[in-house]
Amino acid sequence: MSESEKGRVTGINYLKVLIFTLVGLIAFQSCSYLTSNKDNKQLFSFLSGQEQNPKEPINYQFNDGIMSKSISVRSVLKNFIAIEQEEGVGARVRRSIGTMKMRRFPPFLMLDDFFVKPPAGFPDHPHHGQETITYNLKGMIAHEDFTGSKGVLFPGDLQFMTAGKGIVHSEIPVSLEDGSASNGLQLWVDLPAELKNCEPRYRDLRKKQTPEVKVNDNLTVRVISGKSYGVDSVQELAYTPVHFYHFITSKKGTEFAQEFPKDFNVFFYILKGSLAVNDQVFPEHSAVFFDTDGEGVAGTSVSDDAEFVLIGGKILDQEVLQHGPFVETSRERMIDVFRNYQYGMNGFENAHSWDSKIAGGISEAEARKLYKE
Ligand SMILES: *[C@@H]1O[C@H](CO)[C@@H](O)[C@H](O)[C@H]1NC(C)=O
Repeated sequence: MSESEKGRVTGINYLKVLIFTLVGLIAFQSCSYLTSNKDNKQLFSFLSGQEQNPKEPINYQFNDGIMSKSISVRSVLKNFIAIEQEEGVGARVRRSIGTMKMRRFPPFLMLDDFFVKPPAGFPDHPHHGQETITYNLKGMIAHEDFTGSKGVLFPGDLQFMTAGKGIVHSEIPVSLEDGSASNGLQLWVDLPAELKNCEPRYRDLRKKQTPEVKVNDNLTVRVISGKSYGVDSVQELAYTPVHFYHFITSKKGTEFAQEFPKDFNVFFYILKGSLAVNDQVFPEHSAVFFDTDGEGVAGTSVSDDAEFVLIGGKILDQEVLQHGPFVETSRERMIDVFRNYQYGMNGFENAHSWDSKIAGGISEAEARKLYKE
């Protein structure tokens, strides 16, 4: 490398650190991120009126695929429609968790329903202390990270990424031949405090690896993680236990039910159509959060072709300090993470010398070739 090239590379690195610091400062200024799960719990019990008058459980009878059983269903804690926002040229995002309406829902930190096409994308950026689950619904998303792993998600594919002590990666929508946008969900899950500094890892889960249960003529469930109507998913994919189901209904009036462990927080997000739960109707793009007062959730579709993701995660009882894509449990630990990133150490050794190949864009032909590699 010539001196001038070295100068250029160092220049880019300073620019990266500067940009990241600025983004971080803005995030820090605009939100007071230091709130604890304990605050959330109090807020939740206040919202649901738990302390004032304990509710009688509502029982719901359903056939779980093996036998007919009765479960008590959880009551709705909070709901709202995720509003679409422009995120620069070529990107629109509906964010539900991670907004002022629902800052976080432990262990979940963020949920985005994204529509993105080139030149928009999420080029080289760091993460620490959390896991991300990307569920690609339409189009193709290419990814590459500084450990050397890379790949492409096709419709129905998922990626589970554990940032652990640190990762820098790039997520870029493929330039599709028909010019359409890619659409998917990205869910951020907190990591237990003792795993914050684990080695980063990636698992791609292909559509064909996720079993689909045809419950009846009008209901199909894709079991991404967990167990639904007697069918188990292939493997555990995240360090923090997460159950993730995609419900697909065809006819209006289709009933559904799903059990969850007691110590899980549960919510659903409507991709298409509308649903009724406990006599309340929720329109398209609603995010609906449940109390922990029952063994599961149950409801009915109120439009034809309704689809939603139903997700639960084990509640983590720990502080959450979030600073952009860095998640820690205390200010002291966050300062260490910033220092590690800034000086390229303790997991961030490659952070400033690495540049992804896909950040400048990737064609459909290149993506298909990359998938075969
Ligand atoms: C499926 O939908 C059709 C049309 O609404 C209905 O007649 C049928 O009973 C439904 N089947 C089940 C199992 O819900």
